[in-house]
Amino acid sequence: MPEQLTPSPARGLHIITWGCQMNVYDSARMADVLRPLGYSPVDSPDHADMIILNTCHIRERAAEKVFSELGRLRQIREARKLEGKQTLIAVAGCVAQAEGKELLARAPYVDLVLGPQTYHRLPEMVARIARAGGSVIDTDFPVESKFDLLPEDAAPQNEGNLTAFLTIQEGCDKFCSFCVVPYTRGAETSRPVASILAEAERLVASGVKEITLLGQNVNAFHGEWQDGIASLPELASLLHERIPALKRLRYVTSHPRDMEQALINAHRDNPIFMPYLHLPVQSGSDKVLKAMNRSHTADEYRDIIRKLRAARPDIALTSDFIVGHPGETDEDFEATMQLVRDVRFASAYSFKYSQRPGTPAAGQPFQVAEDVKEKRLAALQALLREQQDAFNASLIGTVQDILVTGIGRKPGQLNGRSPYLQPVHFEGDPALIGQIVKVHITTPFTNSLGGHLSKQEGTTI
Ligand code: 5AD
Ligand code: SF4
Repeated sequence: MPEQLTPSPARGLHIITWGCQMNVYDSARMADVLRPLGYSPVDSPDHADMIILNTCHIRERAAEKVFSELGRLRQIREARKLEGKQTLIAVAGCVAQAEGKELLARAPYVDLVLGPQTYHRLPEMVARIARAGGSVIDTDFPVESKFDLLPEDAAPQNEGNLTAFLTIQEGCDKFCSFCVVPYTRGAETSRPVASILAEAERLVASGVKEITLLGQNVNAFHGEWQDGIASLPELASLLHERIPALKRLRYVTSHPRDMEQALINAHRDNPIFMPYLHLPVQSGSDKVLKAMNRSHTADEYRDIIRKLRAARPDIALTSDFIVGHPGETDEDFEATMQLVRDVRFASAYSFKYSQRPGTPAAGQPFQVAEDVKEKRLAALQALLREQQDAFNASLIGTVQDILVTGIGRKPGQLNGRSPYLQPVHFEGDPALIGQIVKVHITTPFTNSLGGHLSKQEGTTI
C-alpha cells in the first residue's frame, strides 16, 4: 500500500497518450490514481510536475519514436530545473513493458517505467522516488489484478459525458505471429461483472448514454458473476436490464474465434447493441491466416459475417488488415481483395506488415519487399475507401437515430453520433444535447454526414 496518501498541494500532471482506446482508458485511470497525491491534469508539459508518456508498440518504429519524444521532454525538464522546478518523467504502456530495461539504459533521466498491468501501484512508485530518489521500473504481471485495485470513483472520460469507454477485459492468449500484445499485455483476464456493473452505473448516473466495452479480446470475456461466470452476451443483458438509462452499447476489439452464436444472437435480441461491429480478419488467404496463427479460415470469417447479417440485417462491419505478412504472394493478396469484395465493409484499418522484435513472424523467411507492400496497401485502401463511400452514400435519404453530443462549429448547428459511429451535423436546439433524435441524412462528407431533424418524429428518448 502507498504510505502517503494525504492530499498534497496541487501538482501538474501531463499525460501524452499514443495508441489504442485501451491506452486512452489507462491514461484516465492513471490520472485517477494520482489525484489523491495532489496531481491534477495540465494541458502543457511545460507546466507539469509529472509527465507520463503512455506508449503503443503496435506502430512502426515505436521504440525510436519514444526515444525522440523523451529527448523533447528532457529539454522541458532542464528548462524547468533552471526555474527551480522538479519534473518526474514516466514511461507507461506497451513499449515500457517490452523495452523497460533498455529504456532506462538509453534514457537514464526517466524516473519511472511501468507496464500496463501495474498502474494501480503508481502512487507507491512515486512515493518511493520521493523517499529514495533514483528510477523505478515495474513491468511485472502481478498476481493481483489491476481491475481490483483501481479507484471505485473513477471519473468518466468521454465526449461531453455522453459516451464512455469501460475496460472489461485485458490481454491476449491468441499469439498471432505478428503481434506484440500477448507479450506486453499478458494473458487474457476478465474483470468481475459486479465491478463492471458498478462502474457502468456510475457512468450512466453522470449522464453517459453510450458505453463502449474495451478489451484486447473483448469477446473472449468471461467474468466472475455470482457463483459462476458470465460471457459477453450475458454481461450485455445485465447492463440492459439493470441500467435502463443506458441506451447504446458497443464492444471492441473482437477475434473471429470468439464470435459465438450466443453473441451473434445478442445482436438480434439485445436492443442496446448498436448495429456495428469491428471484427479484424487481417487477411483473406487461408495460407497467410495459418502463417499468422489466426485459427480461422477466410470462409469461416465469411460464415460469421453471414450469421451476423442474418441476425441483424442492418449491421455494418469494420475490420483490420495487414498486407505483406512474410510469405504473402500476389495470389494471397488477391484472396484478401476478394474477401473485401465479398464482405463489403463500412470502413477498415489497413497496415503494411512491420517486424516486431520477439514475435514469430519477425524471424520468418520470405519477408515481402517494401515497394510490394506499398502497392498492395494502396490497392486495398482504394477498395476499402470505395466501400466506405458506398456505405455512407447508402445512408442518404434514410432516417437515423442520432445521439446528440454537442454544439457544432457553425451557428445553430448540433453534432451527433450515428449508430455507425459517424459524426453527423444538423441544425437544432441545444436543449436536444444528450437525447437520441431522428435525423434525415442528406449529405455525405469525407468523414461525416449532414442532415436535418426529421419532421415525422421528434426525440426517441
Ligand atoms: N504489423 C502491421 N500491423 C500490425 N498490427 C498489429 N501488429 C502489426 C504488425 N506487426 C495491426 C493488426 C491489428 C491492429 C491493431 O494493428 O491489424 O489488428
Ligand atoms: Fe494481437 Fe492477435 Fe491477440 Fe489481436 S488476437 S491482440 S492481433 S495476438
